[in-house]
Amino acid sequence: MQSHPAHGGALIDLYAQGDNLQQAKARARDNRSWDLTNKQMLDIELLLNGGFSPLTGYLSQADYDSVVQQLRLSDGTLWPMPINLDVTQAFADEIAVGEEITLRDPEGVVIANLSVTDIWVPDRELEAKQVFGTTDGSHPGADYLINCSNPVYVGGSLTGVTPPLHYDFAQYRKDPRAMRQHFADLGWDKVIAFQTRNPIHKAHVIMMKRLMGAEQANLVIHTAVGKTKPGDIDHYCRVRCYEKILPYFPDGMAEVEILPLAMRMGGPREALWQAIIRQNYGFSHFIVGRDHAGPGRNNLGGLFYGATEAQEFVSNYQDELGIRILKAPFLRYVADRGEFVEESQLLSGEAGLYISGAELKQLLVEGKDVPQWFAYPQVVEELNRTMPPRHKQGFTLFFTGLSGSGKSTLANGVMVKLRELGSRKVSLLDGDVVRKNLSSELTFSKEHRDLNIQRIGYVASEITRNGGVAVCAPIAPYAETRRTVRNMIEEEGVFVEVHVATPLEVCEARDRKGLYAMARAGKIKGFTGIDDPYDVPEHPEMRIDTSQFSMTDAVSQVINRLRDMGLLETSETSD
Ligand code: PPS
Repeated sequence: MQSHPAHGGALIDLYAQGDNLQQAKARARDNRSWDLTNKQMLDIELLLNGGFSPLTGYLSQADYDSVVQQLRLSDGTLWPMPINLDVTQAFADEIAVGEEITLRDPEGVVIANLSVTDIWVPDRELEAKQVFGTTDGSHPGADYLINCSNPVYVGGSLTGVTPPLHYDFAQYRKDPRAMRQHFADLGWDKVIAFQTRNPIHKAHVIMMKRLMGAEQANLVIHTAVGKTKPGDIDHYCRVRCYEKILPYFPDGMAEVEILPLAMRMGGPREALWQAIIRQNYGFSHFIVGRDHAGPGRNNLGGLFYGATEAQEFVSNYQDELGIRILKAPFLRYVADRGEFVEESQLLSGEAGLYISGAELKQLLVEGKDVPQWFAYPQVVEELNRTMPPRHKQGFTLFFTGLSGSGKSTLANGVMVKLRELGSRKVSLLDGDVVRKNLSSELTFSKEHRDLNIQRIGYVASEITRNGGVAVCAPIAPYAETRRTVRNMIEEEGVFVEVHVATPLEVCEARDRKGLYAMARAGKIKGFTGIDDPYDVPEHPEMRIDTSQFSMTDAVSQVINRLRDMGLLETSETSD
């Protein structure tokens, strides 16, 4: 569709063809390889298929600096989001500028070759401050960047070998070229993209229909399915929900499509980036919503970005964009009038109703009814099926504390009690037992302890995903590894960290296994609390000192805390 050129002029296609492809595959056999993370898999898909036009690879250091500081590539082209390949220091030490490396998916399939032009250590805090406006750990984009991404960036141009493979919803995964062709086949010249990472309800549909009418345009619900915010409803459920609302649009005028986008929750900058991506996909219009790509509230309860900040920000760049920005009006439901009204047009004293995404999730996890004025019944039915109330969801109960603090005894007591209550399957991953089975070859070095905890986290996340309860009781002495495990589990369900805060003197006096005496005598090296550190958890869901209570009391306290968190049905605990 020539009427809607890609950003920067030409739609990029980095996939090699014919002989070039055969040569790229042959070189890949000898190149050093980097296994892409899930997030990197999403970025590379949009690099290779032109979704990120005009980029032809990962940013060079000069382009990165320019993007971070001025939202532009060094040639002046508007580009608001740094797109980098982040690697470990160890991998960076093995490669050199001028070399070609091969990027593989997590199963080892060759995705692309990268001709390395730059290798550098970025200031990730500065990047977070400039791109997200914050280094606050409660901002998921800033948190991922500072705490989870790798410390070295590699820049260079890409040669695509194999498009990332998807088995889910293949019919909705058109790349920019296929999408443009699809619009041409349908004769759709004006097409609005609606970006979303949440289920869609009545107010959204009414808002979209009003914009479609005003612009005389068709519409695609172009949903991001990549990593979004911890706790978001997964895309399988969301896409099924979108399918259910299509009949509420005028006949055949709206469709669903998937965008493999790893959102950064970067508010205004991200909204601009998303508009550019949609331009590349051939859309003519892009809706910027209220608090678009907003990460929710910070630790102090405030918003990271103003509600209309993204709309104003993107509109300021309208002249440089080849896609028209539509500001979504914010609709509230007025019960007396029985209709949705723009917030700005509420009469004085008229209370408009609205349910936020967070409030909706709360209703679902508490098993309460979702009001009919708010949502379509087919969508509520789908959500209820996928998101049972919290007392039916899986969770991980993670005890951490010094050797001899009482973790295992407490974990056993709680496990038995949960089995007695009987609503879910419970698995115990006790420190000693795990070390005999899962981690029998590991020592107590920092590296091996981290590996041990990550293995426990992995198993616990699988149990949690499948609706069970994983009770874990390792020492888990390092805060950073505990955070990794928390992030892993929170993708699947609830993580409850219990710091078993029995003081060292008490643990040492108990010395059930005689290990403290051996550590003091220097016969065991690197013993936690003696000559190896224990990072005290700063914000555990619960802290309990087993020297202050009987074990029966301690078990009851944990069970009560689980009940307060809604993880146990009230009747389950009335013993
Ligand atoms: S870790 O750090 O989380 O991987 O430790 P964990 O797997 O929970 O194993 C802890 C048990 O191993 C025994 N042990 C040691 N603990 C700490 N430091 C050193 N160097 C060490 N060597 C052996 C100890 O009995 C721990 O059991 P618990 O049940 O915690 O007392």
